[in-house]
Amino acid sequence: MKKTVSIILALALAAIAAPTVVRADEGMWLPSLISSRIADMQAKGFRLSAEDIYCVNQASLKDAVLMFGGGCSGEMVSEQGLVLTNHHCGYYHIGRHSGVGHDYLRDGFWALRREDELPCQGLTVSFLERMDDVTALILKDVSDDTPEAQRDSIVKARSKALAEEAVGGRNGLRASVEPLWYGNQYFIFVYKTYRDVRLVGAPPSSIGKFGGDTDNWMWPRHTGDFSIFRVYAGADNEPADYSPDNKPFKPKKFFEINAKGLNEGDFTFIYGNPGSTREHITGEAVRWIGEVSDPAKIEIRDRRLSIIKSYMAQSQELRIKFSSKAASVSNAWKKWQGESLGIKRMNTVESKKAYEKAFSEWALGTTYEGVVESIDSLLIIQEPYDFAKSYYQEAVSQVEIAAFAAKFDGGKAAKMSPEEYKKTVESFFGSWYKPIDKDCFVSSMQLFSDNVPEDFKPEYFKQQMSKFGTVEAWAEDIFEASVFANKDALLALEPQAAAEAAKTDPAATYVREMARWYAKSIHPVWNSCEKQVKLLMRKYVRGKMEKDPDARFYPDANLTLRVAYGHVKGYSPSDGIYYYPVSTLKGVIEKDNPEIFDYDIPQSLRDMYEESVKADPAGVGIGNTPVCILADNHTSGGNSGSPVIDADGRLVGINFDRVWEGTMSDIVFDPDYCRNISIDIRYLLFVVDKIGNASTLLDEMTIVY
Ligand code: ARG
Ligand code: GLU
Repeated sequence: MKKTVSIILALALAAIAAPTVVRADEGMWLPSLISSRIADMQAKGFRLSAEDIYCVNQASLKDAVLMFGGGCSGEMVSEQGLVLTNHHCGYYHIGRHSGVGHDYLRDGFWALRREDELPCQGLTVSFLERMDDVTALILKDVSDDTPEAQRDSIVKARSKALAEEAVGGRNGLRASVEPLWYGNQYFIFVYKTYRDVRLVGAPPSSIGKFGGDTDNWMWPRHTGDFSIFRVYAGADNEPADYSPDNKPFKPKKFFEINAKGLNEGDFTFIYGNPGSTREHITGEAVRWIGEVSDPAKIEIRDRRLSIIKSYMAQSQELRIKFSSKAASVSNAWKKWQGESLGIKRMNTVESKKAYEKAFSEWALGTTYEGVVESIDSLLIIQEPYDFAKSYYQEAVSQVEIAAFAAKFDGGKAAKMSPEEYKKTVESFFGSWYKPIDKDCFVSSMQLFSDNVPEDFKPEYFKQQMSKFGTVEAWAEDIFEASVFANKDALLALEPQAAAEAAKTDPAATYVREMARWYAKSIHPVWNSCEKQVKLLMRKYVRGKMEKDPDARFYPDANLTLRVAYGHVKGYSPSDGIYYYPVSTLKGVIEKDNPEIFDYDIPQSLRDMYEESVKADPAGVGIGNTPVCILADNHTSGGNSGSPVIDADGRLVGINFDRVWEGTMSDIVFDPDYCRNISIDIRYLLFVVDKIGNASTLLDEMTIVY
């Protein structure tokens, strides 16, 4: 196996290094192996070296890139710990510091002095110290004949040992060994995590979230999606818990800012943490996603969203209360629609199946013979379970009162102190709105009743339906008779009594019975198929590399640091339309409408624009200020907040989205449609200065005009 592994790696590296014709800018590359792509990057305009991107012996751009919180990216822009990321990445913390009389989400926030910065409890930023190929260590003496369970426990034990050794108990260090190529290769990633991070600046949401869900995943875009934080460290510049005595962290490297900006055709690259892609799955898996799974999840969310939105339209209070909820429901909902359309438009199922046919013929007589067929026959078994799983996750589990009741079930309430109990109850009723939850329950359970095949439905569900006759009548039982729907009744109980009540309560019973059904009847089969498919995928991916050593292979995203490069580029979403890759403040003004929440800009911006036009009768005043840019870098969820970098390694923007027509890029990349969307750094400079009146923040950045 040692031999097999090294052959495979040689093949993988050869594949990465293979000179490719200048074509699509597809790919998310490992920074430590970027030397294999550097010639291509330079041919496309990059003027620095591989060591400038990633180096462990001296400061490189990687030291200016960070993981923001648990799932966003960010970048250092000053010697004094200043961090840029997206507004939607900082949203939670901006909201947490807001209250009556100081609504930072609505009005923005600017700390002009260090003492005004707001510590963000629980927020961390992590820097990658190093990444190394540890395949040889992890798979030492493991062969193709090693039983999988044994291989698995060897891999786990060695990964743990390597990670512990890398960390060595040192302050702030964290390490993990991650599989690449479904476990054909293993890399260790060592991070240093700083845990004193403070909010420094955020534009009002009417800029930071301008366009809202209406414009989400779309171009032309005019969102100033940024926020600013500062990292603090102990006196030794090392990670420290929050303390007023901490000092601004001095990074090994920070980005200079290029205020000249980019033009269509210019080279650009993205350095960040894409979360998850599945470029190697078979045509059958893609068919399932595009034709069944995405549409099912879209339908469930369609109903939920229209319920939430109809209530939001009833009052300002409900609109504010549910805008964040609606945004999170609609984000994936909209993405899935783009994804399934994109898969269809590209004929991905057919083209993957054609490839697989050729693969299977090539594989005859090799160790890869029949691998695709085995994967697909497992997928056919898994699919109905996957359908039920989607319903469990998207419909059953979204009932809020049920999730709340579950907190008290199984004796959990009995373990709560009276204070904890009271706090749990009050925090739930502080944000719960019964009519929405009840309507969502009715619509979700109706879909469950209509769409989940009879022999997959839980007995409990069937009993309830025959007992109550309709989902509406069942909802009366859960939402009117449950003690968990009644704050006063619940507060009058002792924790012990709440635990007792949960045993027979309709809401607690619903969540308990449905969870039992999922755990007993759905998950085991789903999971067993999943494990076997993953194993076969390991083999299949290895076979693909062997079959086409010259193809352009890159490992699926797994929330580790990647480089994606490309060019500033427009696109044609449909016949007769061409989208330019740059939007400007003129477009913000065109969309501005005080009547429409998503497009209601701050009055100060309106006034500023009008004055600038008056002062510039022949021109457009500040209307030419660049706002957003499009490029064809291959990005995914998790790349939010990533630095967008020019040919000289300077910051030109912050990534925050992709275009709708290209969201299938998590499965298949189409150079004609896949575009990432970034805020042009010049819009950030403009907003900080003119809206935030916080030019002192700009003074500590290195801006090249
Ligand atoms: N679509 C972008 C990203 O996943 C931005 C999401 C936040 N913005 C919003 N309007 N919901 O995830
Ligand atoms: N907005 C996404 C995020 O939060 C990035 C957009 C994408 O999925 O490409 O990570």
